[in-house]
Amino acid sequence: MNEFEYRDGVLHCEGVALQSAADRFGTPLYVYSRSALVGSFQRLSAAFQKLQPRICFSIKSCHNLHVLRVLRKEGAWFDAVSIGEVRRALEAGAAAETIVFAGVGKTPEELALAVRLDVGCINIESEGELAALAELAARADKTIRAAVRINPDVDAITHPYTTTGKSENKFGVSFEAAREMLLVYTGHDHVRLSGLHVHIGSPVRTVAPYMEAINRLLAFIEEVRAAGAVIDAIDIGGGFPAAGDEQAPAIEEYASAVAPLLEGRALAVHLEPGRSIAADAGVLLAKALYVKQGATKRFVVVDAAMTELIRPALYRAEHFVWPVTPGADLVPENRLAGARLPQTVRVDVVGPVCESGDFLARDRWLPPVDPGDLLAVFSAGAYGAVMSSQYNSRPRAAEVLVSGEEAHLIRRRETYDDLVAAERDADR
Ligand code: LLP
Repeated sequence: MNEFEYRDGVLHCEGVALQSAADRFGTPLYVYSRSALVGSFQRLSAAFQKLQPRICFSIKSCHNLHVLRVLRKEGAWFDAVSIGEVRRALEAGAAAETIVFAGVGKTPEELALAVRLDVGCINIESEGELAALAELAARADKTIRAAVRINPDVDAITHPYTTTGKSENKFGVSFEAAREMLLVYTGHDHVRLSGLHVHIGSPVRTVAPYMEAINRLLAFIEEVRAAGAVIDAIDIGGGFPAAGDEQAPAIEEYASAVAPLLEGRALAVHLEPGRSIAADAGVLLAKALYVKQGATKRFVVVDAAMTELIRPALYRAEHFVWPVTPGADLVPENRLAGARLPQTVRVDVVGPVCESGDFLARDRWLPPVDPGDLLAVFSAGAYGAVMSSQYNSRPRAAEVLVSGEEAHLIRRRETYDDLVAAERDADR
């Protein structure tokens, strides 16, 4: 089922007409579909079923407590990259042992709290961090499970800013450093370093880089096991594309390439998907404010901006944008077919922020848009709200979760008082 679909020329999310959601909650507005979140989680679980993986939802992609709760009920574990994210997972009802705490720069305070909370695993990214963890765990007289993140020097062929597994990237440690760490810590009283972790980029639009990275890790595991290290888990990260990404294979293709490599290796398998679960489960609704003809371009100025979705500005990411009520004859069969519909006009969809990089879509063929019309920016469920900012003193937008015929507010719109609260507190 496609949870975001046009019925009689009107965009719906499940049983809710999005025009009515915008009328009720205002714009800009993020709208998520519960059924799409659950569906993409289940599809991913089914695809990788042979490996019986722990699916650790990458909180950074969509951290709303209510979204986390939906996924926890489906059996998700969680990938957290700050104590803030660990606390979100706990508040959403996750058991501490289902939380993997990762990140290249965990502070001593964060590590200490993670030890106190007994998180399930800490992914280590440097020798210094491992030594700090060992000391904290000894002081607390605990034994903490940890994995070492390897930088496999594999090119994920994605945007340079979201490539994470090449040797020039800041993430993980080399195989040489990992070997040293594993051998030194084998049998350690307070750190059980028995997992390997790799995350090569996001989105990774071909299967081959995963296979390359995993094959390198497997060869390494054989070698260190022979030298006495105990390795019982492998975390292959996230990076799988959104289901609607026409430039990428389906999740099943990733799974069927990866599963045979990992089966029968006596390794528990962890995945850390974010985008593939959340991206297509959300849209951003924006209202057109003005339409103006510039010297060379036509601009649709809307009330959402780079503050609500920074991906076009930051990565030149292309999000499909279409009116919410275009009428039945102006609904494209698919995202690519939109431009071929009659009456479409080439426009830039831009926000109110004072930067030329503030665009949501450029050079797109859209049906004629009038002030007051609503536009939907698709695939905004991941890395949308979580990367939002208050730049230009714009209060953050509201978030809504649709479940069947019902739309629930899951984050209220910020107010002017929210914008200045921390500054007023500082005056006291
Ligand atoms: N695991 C680790 C260690 C990660 O760094 C990430 C994402 C994930 C898992 C989840 O990746 P996913 O399955 O969502 O692709 N802001 C960018 C994406 C940055 C991803 C950062 N790390 C964007 O908007 O495209």
